[in-house]
Amino acid sequence: MTSFKPSNVLILGGTGTIGKYITASILRANLSLNVTLFTSPNTAAAKTDLLNNWKSQGLSIIIGDITSDADITAAYRGIDTVISAVGRGALQVQINLLRLAEASDSVQWFLPSEYGTDIEHNEKSPNEKPHQLKLKVRKFVREEIKRVKVTYVVTGPYFDMWVNAHPGVERAGGFIPEKKEAYVIEDGEGKIGFCTMWDVGKFVAATLRHPQESFGKALKVQSFVVTPNKVLAEYEKQTGSQFKVTKTPLDEIRRLEAKAWEDGVPTATAFTLRRIWAEGGTLYDKNDNDVVGVKPKELDTLADGVRKALAGGYKSDTF
Ligand SMILES: NC(=O)c1ccc[n+]([C@@H]2O[C@H](COP(=O)([O-])OP(=O)(O)OC[C@H]3O[C@@H](n4cnc5c(N)ncnc54)[C@H](OP(=O)(O)O)[C@@H]3O)[C@@H](O)[C@H]2O)c1
Repeated sequence: MTSFKPSNVLILGGTGTIGKYITASILRANLSLNVTLFTSPNTAAAKTDLLNNWKSQGLSIIIGDITSDADITAAYRGIDTVISAVGRGALQVQINLLRLAEASDSVQWFLPSEYGTDIEHNEKSPNEKPHQLKLKVRKFVREEIKRVKVTYVVTGPYFDMWVNAHPGVERAGGFIPEKKEAYVIEDGEGKIGFCTMWDVGKFVAATLRHPQESFGKALKVQSFVVTPNKVLAEYEKQTGSQFKVTKTPLDEIRRLEAKAWEDGVPTATAFTLRRIWAEGGTLYDKNDNDVVGVKPKELDTLADGVRKALAGGYKSDTF
């Protein structure tokens, strides 16, 4: 394995929210790879323009059912590297995807769907509700995967999404530029490590360039580390207006979080993740950007992130 270099890559979930950035970045990175996307019949029918555009850039497409052993076994034929970007609803399916990878003749490397919060950051991490399925995947890898190498790309929160104060979860942080409103936790001085969504794609492409350095690791990669107050200052600078700031103590966030879980509302996950980020769950003595050879000048800055958010945000990205 010391000389392994990926040459035939299969992407699962590659048209999803973050999968689009990963697939597009790999296609643009000139990695001399054969890239195949595995997608469901529904997605293939719904996203024909996107898929035709990528096909013209050399992408091959396999349509199948991610839960079918026969479909996945056939898709793995000749593949050496699998990148999963499946959504939360399919995280558990990855246990079978990994089992089939281990049993295949060709798969050497598997990147499970992570691209988010560090699920093994501290002693509280094992009990965080949104981490449970990803933790199960890591446990299965530890116990059952012997031959295939595994790498987790841990990016922290997407700045593009974090900046938006979501209805019903505003108190947990974010901005509403139309109303010149900002929400911060505590005094807004707690640092958070972010990745922009395009940088997530860039880091995954960079990981493919550094297999040996990445095998067996959870790579912690980041575009920039800033405080919410720094983000606020950037919004105020770029808009030329002052924002009305609402500060919410962490204990109040914890109370709202507990109530959301008790009520079984979908915003519960957002409260938990934003609480974890505000508690320092994205901070490290040193990140792993240099492990995959990504230099600061190649990454988005806070100013880039705010500029993009003000220009329509990630929903106006094209691939
Ligand atoms: N750091 C952050 O701020 C942040 C934010 C959002 C997500 N994430 C992480 O990013 C990863 C991908 O999430 P995402 O939101 O990008 O995914 P998504 O858009 O919800 O789904 C991605 C793809 O997964 C495939 N899929 C197959 N079965 C599925 C099922 N039962 N439920 C959901 N998806 C299914 C679908 O692809 P096909 O139809 O092509 O098969 C779908 O397009 C996750 O690990 C998530 O935790 C992180």
